[in-house]
Amino acid sequence: MAEALAGSPFHDRVEYYEALASTSDRVRELLDQLGPEAHFSVVLALEQTSGRGRLGRNWHSDQGKSLTLSVALWPSCGPEHFSAYPVAAALAVRETLKEFGQEASIKWPNDILLGGRKVCGILLEGRFSGESPRGFALGIGLNLGQRREEFPKELRDSATSLLIESGSMPSVELFAGALLPRLGVWLAMVESDSAEVFRSAQSAWAHRPGDLLRLDLGASQIQGCFVAIGGEGELLLETEDGTRALRHGEVVRVRPGGAS
Ligand code: BTN
Repeated sequence: MAEALAGSPFHDRVEYYEALASTSDRVRELLDQLGPEAHFSVVLALEQTSGRGRLGRNWHSDQGKSLTLSVALWPSCGPEHFSAYPVAAALAVRETLKEFGQEASIKWPNDILLGGRKVCGILLEGRFSGESPRGFALGIGLNLGQRREEFPKELRDSATSLLIESGSMPSVELFAGALLPRLGVWLAMVESDSAEVFRSAQSAWAHRPGDLLRLDLGASQIQGCFVAIGGEGELLLETEDGTRALRHGEVVRVRPGGAS
């Protein structure tokens, strides 16, 4: 791993744990202790006992069979660029999966899919003092080695792992060693050219113009035809009431364009 990281911004900045409640909690501690100096510190755990997912959910992971890591970010770019961070992470994961022979797509806002099922989730959590950002924890959870029956029942239809898709499982160290240098490049690009992050993601989205999507917005649902992902990561949806730009939510149903 040390070799794989030489020359990457994470070189010398990776903490490893056998077990942690959540790697993102440890990143929050680093942000508290170090402030801007924590930027690009990485925390990796072989087991998470209390992993968090998006929308207040738990994140399921299995010891030695899941990659769970978080990166501390203390951006010097403006807030209009922050939504590029999870997309940059998704692109790094996608490139890494390609190295392991897998063609992944990104389901908005930042789930990584293999064969239509979720293999990886990404969570960007911010710490703010008033309006000013006091750092972010960018968490990545990826299913490396679960067999279908090892997922909780409610996830069996929607989740997958690299083992299920490819028949083999790289070690956590091998996958992290391949991912981290790419992650360094893409995360750095958010500060230098966040528009390029979104441009690069354009062909990676799981959605095609004309697909009929239903989104869960928490208190309500909305349905419409996918138009595109906008320059700040917003999902543009053509609805009965016109084009809506959505920044939060979850795609819960997809009907490909042209299907009846
Ligand atoms: C999702 O719900 O799709 C996002 C899942 C993010 C999980 C990762 S695992 C590493 C980091 N630590 C956590 O507690 N959550 C994130």
